[in-house]
Amino acid sequence: MWWLEPLAVALGLSAFGIYSFWAALQGDHYAWGPYLSPFYSPELFGNSSHALFGPPPSWWPAAFSMFGVELHIPFSPAFLILWAPLGFRGTCYYYRKAYYRSFFQNPTACAVGKPWKSYCGETAFPLILQNIHRYFLYVAIVFIAFLTYDGLKAFTREGPKDYVAGLGSVVLLLNAFFLAMYTFGCHSLRHLVGGHLDSFSDSASSCTRHKIWSGVTCLNERHMMWAWISLFWVGFSDVYVRLVSMGRIADLRIF
Ligand code: FES
Repeated sequence: MWWLEPLAVALGLSAFGIYSFWAALQGDHYAWGPYLSPFYSPELFGNSSHALFGPPPSWWPAAFSMFGVELHIPFSPAFLILWAPLGFRGTCYYYRKAYYRSFFQNPTACAVGKPWKSYCGETAFPLILQNIHRYFLYVAIVFIAFLTYDGLKAFTREGPKDYVAGLGSVVLLLNAFFLAMYTFGCHSLRHLVGGHLDSFSDSASSCTRHKIWSGVTCLNERHMMWAWISLFWVGFSDVYVRLVSMGRIADLRIF
C-alpha cells in the first residue's frame, strides 16, 4: 500500500490547483467589507476598497496571442500576485518530494522501483532552478506581513477604531497564522539563521542565533503538517469570503 500516500498527495494538490486556478480567473467576489481573500492579497490594482494603487490597469491587454490563437483573459488582481505563493510552494522542499513521487514517479518512494531508467535529481536543468526557493522565501515573508495586516483589518468595520469580530475575521487571522507557521519553518530559513556556522558556541551572536534557529527547527520538524494545514486553510478562506461576498451565507457575528 506504498502508493496510498502519493495518491492522496496527488489528489489533494490537484484539487487545490484546480480550485485556485478557477478562483484566480474569477476576478470578482474576492472581498467583502474588511475581508480580502488571500488569493488576492495584496491587491495591487482592482475594484475593491483594498486596492493599493487604484482600479484595474489600462495596460492590461485586451487579448493575448499564443500559438496563433487569440485569448481574451479579463483582468484579475490575482494574476499580479499569485506567482509568489505558487513559486514558494512549488519549490518548497516538502512539496518537491511530494509531487516528484506523486506525479512524476521519480523517485517513486524509498525502496520502490521506478518506471524511469535515469534519475539525476536536481543537478541539471530544469530542476536545478528549484534552488530559487530561497528567493521566494524573501517574498513570502513580505506576503505574511500583508496577510497579517488583512487578518487584523478583518476585525474592523466602519473605521480603524470600530472593532467587531465575525467568523471571517477569525478565519483570515488564522490564515495568516497558519501561513506564518509554514513559512517560518522553511528549510531555507533554517539555513539562513543557523547556517554558515560550524558551532554555535564559537559564534559571537550564538545565543540569539541559537534561539532563532531552535524556533525555526521546531516548526521545521512539522513542516509537512503546516504545509497541508495552511494549504487547506488558504483555500477555505477564499471560499468563505467568496460565499459571504456573493450573499450565499451571512457572516456570523461573534461580538
Ligand atoms: S522548504 Fe518548504 S517552504 Fe521552504
